[in-house]
Amino acid sequence: MASVDFPYKTIKDVDVQNKRILMRADYNVPLRADGAIADDFRITASLPTINYLLGRGAQLVLISHLGRPKGQVNSKYSLAPVAERLSEALGRPVKFVDDCVGDEVVSATSQMQSGDVILLENLRFHPEEEQNDSSFARNLANDSGAELFVQDGFGVVHRPHASTAAITGILPAVAGLLLEREYVEIKSATDAPNRPLTTVIGGAKISDKMPLVRKFMQIADNVIIGGALANNFLKYDGHNVGDSLVEDGVADLVGSIEQEAKDKYGDELSEHFVLPVDVAVSETGSLDAPRVEVGLDDVASPAKIYDAGEKTIKIIEQTVANSGTVIWNGTLGMAEYPEFSRGSARLALTLAKNPQITSVIGGGDTADFVRNWDALHGGSFTHVSTGGGASLELMAGDELPGIVALMKK
Ligand code: 3PG
Repeated sequence: MASVDFPYKTIKDVDVQNKRILMRADYNVPLRADGAIADDFRITASLPTINYLLGRGAQLVLISHLGRPKGQVNSKYSLAPVAERLSEALGRPVKFVDDCVGDEVVSATSQMQSGDVILLENLRFHPEEEQNDSSFARNLANDSGAELFVQDGFGVVHRPHASTAAITGILPAVAGLLLEREYVEIKSATDAPNRPLTTVIGGAKISDKMPLVRKFMQIADNVIIGGALANNFLKYDGHNVGDSLVEDGVADLVGSIEQEAKDKYGDELSEHFVLPVDVAVSETGSLDAPRVEVGLDDVASPAKIYDAGEKTIKIIEQTVANSGTVIWNGTLGMAEYPEFSRGSARLALTLAKNPQITSVIGGGDTADFVRNWDALHGGSFTHVSTGGGASLELMAGDELPGIVALMKK
């Protein structure tokens, strides 16, 4: 696969030696009920950039958000546990300061030495962060005393916030290594794929996924529709979907996509535009009930469709195995329940067994599923994105405010 260029400056294009650097990460990590970090993927993904900068004597002031505290201080969303985990991962102290602007920040940063790392408290404890307020961005820059801003929080670059957009008008702003890698892997798959390119779209809400479906219809050789998204197509095609999840008021949307697919693929429609030909249901609708495989015309209330059926899975395996590139966003069923994870697991296995296929996987739930799956199988995918909404929007071809604001090469 040809690799697209990253058109913005990165930490490798500027002098970082012994500089004080303000670095935006996305440490919006899932927490357990007891407040412990449930998954540190986003923390470990930030290490290459941090280590690169520390290796050049930089002083690092890290900023991030966690959750949606709505502009209020809320200890439930404190980044303190992240400082601890990051310190373990780096093997050096990470000082935590319990605000991201103000006197405490000035006092902590003014004592920094080469190689020091400080993590500041959640940016979203201040409403100005989500308002993209430039005075707040100026305070972030001044109070940290930084000379350079590094954007490495790929998961948040689709948000026009003070720490993604306004800050770039105040400090020279370049990308970190994670942001660069995410961009290059995702854009290379969408813009310069090894063909055939197969795209797999699952998940629940068709309205959220619409821009992605439209983009994939333009660029892909094969489009596979799965998950609850597919229920809307089955219903539109006149099948009874029982009590399965469907969205109201999307018939016109679904009809227009089906028409687009017919126009594009003609006689080869079912080969290239893959919808379920059978499904796996829970007959009672409960996720605790056993998996039952049925034909499309055998789904009746109170049954709910929770996965692709065996015939559909075989079609997907074959389409995927014959691909040069696969972009996958959205699981094929209720993949967090073992009974209904078969479609997603067999797709993951097909990618793992065919290392010649470039596979790019994004979207929060899909990435969680494949990483858990990959923990058993090891190194099966080309790229698993740390982004949820950000990877969806980048795959759909949108310009992301936190990327386009960086200095051009
Ligand atoms: C994410 O988890 O997708 C990012 O951290 C962005 O979080 P947000 O959706 O709360 O802006």
